[in-house]
Amino acid sequence: MLKVSSLNIYYGAVRALNNISIHVKEKEFVSLIGSNGAGKTSLLNGILNIVPPKSGEIVFQNRTITGLPTKKKVKMGISLVPEGRRVFPNMSVHENLEMGGYQKSSKIKNRQMEFVLDLFPILKERNKQLAGMLSGGEQQMLAIGRALMSDPKLLLMDEPSMGLAPLVIKNVYEKLTKLKENGLTIFLVEQNASVALKYADRGYVLENGKIVLQGKSSELKDDNEIKRAYLGKEYKEKWER
Ligand SMILES: Nc1ncnc2c1ncn2[C@@H]1O[C@H](COP(=O)(O)OP(=O)(O)OP(=O)(O)O)[C@@H](O)[C@H]1O
Ligand SMILES: [Mg+2]
Repeated sequence: MLKVSSLNIYYGAVRALNNISIHVKEKEFVSLIGSNGAGKTSLLNGILNIVPPKSGEIVFQNRTITGLPTKKKVKMGISLVPEGRRVFPNMSVHENLEMGGYQKSSKIKNRQMEFVLDLFPILKERNKQLAGMLSGGEQQMLAIGRALMSDPKLLLMDEPSMGLAPLVIKNVYEKLTKLKENGLTIFLVEQNASVALKYADRGYVLENGKIVLQGKSSELKDDNEIKRAYLGKEYKEKWER
């Protein structure tokens, strides 16, 4: 569904991504893990042309979309849940969701609204409240809901677990699993390797702008280097009990 080949991104003279190649198949849930500054956000922004890549190719559903404007890519079915959630704090939950579907017909917007409120009943309860008043977990649900309003085929997510308590993270990831079962394709980036690999089918490891490892999540979880660098003892405590 998505194929990124030899992508390079620079900020001035700084090379943030170095010949990145990744792919995501239809209905797959793929995670890319990497520590602070590895280039995770740059990759997602590059895919959507929020940051234009210097070179490389991006193919989505057999169409080359490399330099297309972000808006067009969203219209084609790619949606991003940005780093730090970034809901509009002074708008209501309902208005935030409306914003996510602004490019769509009212028929699709209504259908997606129903789907989102069904998936996240808490957003139904809080429909009239200001988004800024929600808890971190609720804001993450809202950010996902807003991204779903454009009826995407591919959902990109930037560190959905960031700043959330373990139980809330579990809740968010279970919703993602449900979306996958519903036919959505998911590509997310995370520092939190344990949770990212627990739920994904496949994973990549990004270090200093380069892919250094890739494979099935089950294999990556057992990789000694990954255990040492990303999982640590915390992993056993949280996820293997
Ligand atoms: N707008 C920018 N201008 C200059 N350098 C940037 C810019 N954005 C990112 N960088 C640099 O590019 C590299 C990759 O940054 P990026 O934000 O993609 O990493 P990340 O993996 O998302 O990190 P984090 O875990 O902190 O979100 C870093 O060295 C960063 O300092
Ligand atoms: Mg980032």
